[in-house]
Amino acid sequence: MALPIDHLFQSLRRNGVARFMEHFFSLYPDTHMKDMTVDAAGPGREIEILGRRVINFGSDSFLGLDRDERVQDAIARGLSRWGTHNGGSRAFTSVRANVEAEEKIAAWLGMEAALIYPSVTLANAGAIPGLVTRSDIIVADEYAHNSIHEGIKIAKANGSRTYTFRHNDADHLEETLKSARPYKHALITIDGVYSMSGQLPPLKDIHRIALDNDAILYVDDAHGTGVLGSHGRGTVYDNLGTYDNLFVIGSLSKAFSCLGGFIGCQADFHRLLKIRSNSYIFGGPVAPCYLEGVCTVVDILMSDEYALLKSRLDANVRHLVTGIEALDLIVLGGLTPIVSFLVGDEEATLRAGWFLFERGYYVQSVTFPAVPYHAGVIRIQVNANHEAGQIDGLLGALKQLRGHVPLPGMQRAA
Ligand SMILES: Cc1ncc(COP(=O)(O)O)c(C=O)c1O
Repeated sequence: MALPIDHLFQSLRRNGVARFMEHFFSLYPDTHMKDMTVDAAGPGREIEILGRRVINFGSDSFLGLDRDERVQDAIARGLSRWGTHNGGSRAFTSVRANVEAEEKIAAWLGMEAALIYPSVTLANAGAIPGLVTRSDIIVADEYAHNSIHEGIKIAKANGSRTYTFRHNDADHLEETLKSARPYKHALITIDGVYSMSGQLPPLKDIHRIALDNDAILYVDDAHGTGVLGSHGRGTVYDNLGTYDNLFVIGSLSKAFSCLGGFIGCQADFHRLLKIRSNSYIFGGPVAPCYLEGVCTVVDILMSDEYALLKSRLDANVRHLVTGIEALDLIVLGGLTPIVSFLVGDEEATLRAGWFLFERGYYVQSVTFPAVPYHAGVIRIQVNANHEAGQIDGLLGALKQLRGHVPLPGMQRAA
């Protein structure tokens, strides 16, 4: 006899995203390239998937620090110093490495304080609802990261009013704020770098609009952390010249190649966020060994070596972007190590990703719902430790791709 749990399973698989994904997997059994297993990693940017050794152009480890011995050693030292986990909420105790990592992050950013969460997702799930009350509103860019929108859902359930504005449209943001009046406080939530396209927001305009409209700006700079701004402190300070009226969220799992997320904030908010973020209070922290790794990464970012790492990364990004543009493809972003080019049709996007994989290059085929319908992209993540020959090889495969999959180009679009 079927149990209620069996009925639940049947209902869920016929519902929303599960139904969509099942259909997707059955339509494209060979080319969907989702939910794959990596069997081996290294040397350098090589990985093994489906029995093939391919060059990994799908990693956010932008500075290549996942392979850096100093970072690996720090994590190993942390393991012997603290054990595998401290096993308790930070509401009771934090290991010294956690406090030191927060102090180091704050000093590197040039902010008063930083609060570390186990991930950016949990930072957004805890801090966004924690920063508003029933008389406040949140206004989010429609394409802000999913975790921002999930945090906003909690805030909405708690009674805050929530709105979205058209992607990167500062005028629409201002209209939305004005039409949402009266409110006590408003939180504007955006990404510092949009992760699917690599595009940047009009930060100066949005910051000004925040100040003019009694709003506070919350920038999730997960993809800017470590790769934009001086010493990799992100897109915010170098664009605005100030941290006034801002929360800056950064990732410790991408360019940092460790684990976690943080919120850079004023010292008084550091304490307040600890009290008001449920994901912080009721969840466990980043494993201490990674916090030792984080401290080592901050030292690298603050050192003269950063310029070298960054120049390698920038040279690789330029190499790839110039090469893709020479193939007359439409590059989105291109100012950060996330380099996407437009394919459009869903099936063509998947076929393109598979074609490149078969030639030895792992890239991500991104389709609806992660991007708008019929706006599929091939997303390429460039790392400082990609070799020039590997980028040339990928460009060669892209050239062949032109003959196999219909790809929109700048010439044809003009
Ligand atoms: C803007 C943004 N926020 C949050 C996340 C999620 O970060 P985490 O893996 O630390 O939860 C990502 C991941 O790609 C992101 O791009």
